[in-house]
Amino acid sequence: MHTYRKVTEDLYWVGANDRRLALFENIHPIPRGVSYNSYLLLDKKTVLFDTVDWSVCREFLQNVDALLAGRPLDYLVINHLEPDHAASIDEILLRYPKVIVISNEKAFMFMRQFGFGIDDRTEEVQEFDTRSFGKHEVIFVAAPMVHWPEAMVTFDTTNGVLFAADAFGSFGALNGKLFNDEVNFDRDWIDDARRYFTNIVGKYGPHVQAVLKKAGTIDIKIVCPLHGPVWRTDLGYILDKYDKWSRYEPEEKGVLLIYASMYGNTESAANALATALVERGMTNVAMYDVSNTHVSYLISETFRLSHVVLASVTYNLGMYPLIHNYLMDMKALNLQKRTFAIIENGSWACKSGTLIREFLDKELKEITVLNEQLTLNSAMNEMNLPELATLADSIIESMK
Ligand code: FEO
Repeated sequence: MHTYRKVTEDLYWVGANDRRLALFENIHPIPRGVSYNSYLLLDKKTVLFDTVDWSVCREFLQNVDALLAGRPLDYLVINHLEPDHAASIDEILLRYPKVIVISNEKAFMFMRQFGFGIDDRTEEVQEFDTRSFGKHEVIFVAAPMVHWPEAMVTFDTTNGVLFAADAFGSFGALNGKLFNDEVNFDRDWIDDARRYFTNIVGKYGPHVQAVLKKAGTIDIKIVCPLHGPVWRTDLGYILDKYDKWSRYEPEEKGVLLIYASMYGNTESAANALATALVERGMTNVAMYDVSNTHVSYLISETFRLSHVVLASVTYNLGMYPLIHNYLMDMKALNLQKRTFAIIENGSWACKSGTLIREFLDKELKEITVLNEQLTLNSAMNEMNLPELATLADSIIESMK
């Protein structure tokens, strides 16, 4: 059964939701599911913008078929070739034998690499080329490395609709609600939108900045991303978030406390520091156990907050493996502009603090690591209290 929705005159959402997939890209948990958005324009010509993941292809095809109501499909515009959007290209080519695929050189190269049977049914466009489909005219704008090299966005100059590829997308299935004004985005969606952006696109901040600069020159009224809600109001809200995330500026002044604790003693010290911070007036404190929190959530929180405390045991004379994994992800995603503090623990040959500090200094850009730190031998005791107080004071001072 079809479940499409009207976006604006002539334009329909024909995507579908996946609530069965456990891991997006086989790595990021998506307990709220994910939507794969595709859009169909019914103008003088019929134009499909991107397709969907293979897992939801049947529902997608039913949507397209129902809306076309016997009309042929004239064009398929591919803004992004990653298989979560492109896997159903072959099926469209089979069902609509006259369809012409519009995209750029790199995308066509990838289509051939993935084995899609596009043959010569292609129309290659360059940046700023335009096409008229009847009433609607579109312009193609390159968005390289957001987050693949072939990525582009398509802007409908007739109605101000931006087909934004992965930009402005979010994890989370659309439970009947398509538009941002049909959900409480700031309450129910922002954490998944941030986790999506920071883990998928986070590495490419300067490229996102370049696209935002281009976007600033056009009069966008509606943003149609490939995942999550369509934006038709309050565009400034999500643009501001994207601007901050892609400049690696924290959204909020606050402390993220990540601890690695084998028997609870390092966790206890982390609790003591959290309490000391709150007693000093800093209530924006979030705490996570690195051992039971997927690193995609840690990364998202690290982009949100200004300060990060890493509390770690020493393990095999090295860093705790999951702390190392988290730090490696920070490096891979280009995280910058944060202040770090360290709590280290070791019953003998305590090394974790030194190793964490070395990693941060060497691998991350534009960061501060506070000199004050808390060193524990096995467990916190009364003698550690002055050091704890000094560390808490130093964190508070660095927030001014
Ligand atoms: Fe949603 Fe880059 O694919």
